[in-house]
Amino acid sequence: DWTAEHIIDELVADVQAQVGDGRVLLAISGGVDSSTLGLLLAKAVGEKLTAVFIDHGLLRLGEREQVEAALKPLGVNLVTVDARAEFMAALDGVSDPEQKRKIIGREFIRAFEREARAYGPFDFLAQGTLYPDVIESAGGEGAANIKSHHNVGGLPDDLAFKLVEPFRTLFKDEVREIARLLGLPDHIRMRHPFPGPGLAIRCLGAISEEKLDILRRVDDIFISGLREFGLYDGCSQALAILTPIQSVGVMGDERTYSYTAALRAVTTDDFMTAEWARLPYDFLATMSNRIVNQVHEINRVVYDITGKPPATIEWE
Ligand code: XMP
Repeated sequence: DWTAEHIIDELVADVQAQVGDGRVLLAISGGVDSSTLGLLLAKAVGEKLTAVFIDHGLLRLGEREQVEAALKPLGVNLVTVDARAEFMAALDGVSDPEQKRKIIGREFIRAFEREARAYGPFDFLAQGTLYPDVIESAGGEGAANIKSHHNVGGLPDDLAFKLVEPFRTLFKDEVREIARLLGLPDHIRMRHPFPGPGLAIRCLGAISEEKLDILRRVDDIFISGLREFGLYDGCSQALAILTPIQSVGVMGDERTYSYTAALRAVTTDDFMTAEWARLPYDFLATMSNRIVNQVHEINRVVYDITGKPPATIEWE
């Protein structure tokens, strides 16, 4: 029967058998799968692992520091790459959602490739592919691929590594259990999914440093609030969106003309369909007050009460 202790020993032995004394490259996204894989590989091959975390400037408040603080002390050979300027330059003036995704995917490959050359050569590329991903890609282009999800495909031939995918037979819950035993902190282990293109697809239209900074502060208030009020684990995903709508408001005896932020929280089993989370009105009131008081660029907060379908979870 399945116990996480047992499976960890088995996965470590399998990785060691596959990799021998080869060198392994891993892209860390900051999510539970790649972080847990980093810990497992550190246990299996130690310094033969190089884990690359690309900061594309589209992360949430404090995220880079949290990932570093979680993985480095547990022995993961982690390289953080500051690629913020190149992503911002590539996204300058781009407002189409699919175009944003394509550019971010392309820049990600470019940055990853550069680091692979700088720290290489490597023999293996590790990926946190789970069993449901295996099934989904076997099924081809389904509804799940309506939005062009990016991952580390498309590397050039001279970087054609052999793949190491220790989680191919596992489900998310099993990875979370392994993560717990390997010491991954709960705030990463139990984290909601976060899209690869990050805050770029939650900052509607063309992005800017200023807009990302506004969104980052709104998102942090909402997500911290959900945790504080014990509502986080009951949602499958929660997010803040910065809309391009500016509207009139009043602050003291001044008129304001500022942005509208939207909050969205959903419950779902598979992210293919979703219900909007029935968060308590009092909680929403508290969030709204905190946001308009602390983020002066926002004078209006709305809560998204649309299911999927017809809406998607993200707004872009
Ligand atoms: P939608 O918005 O399609 O989202 O209802 C379903 C789930 O997929 C995530 N998502 C993405 N993840 N790259 C990703 O890695 C993307 O481009 C992307 N678009 C959506 C979304 O956060 C939700 O969990």
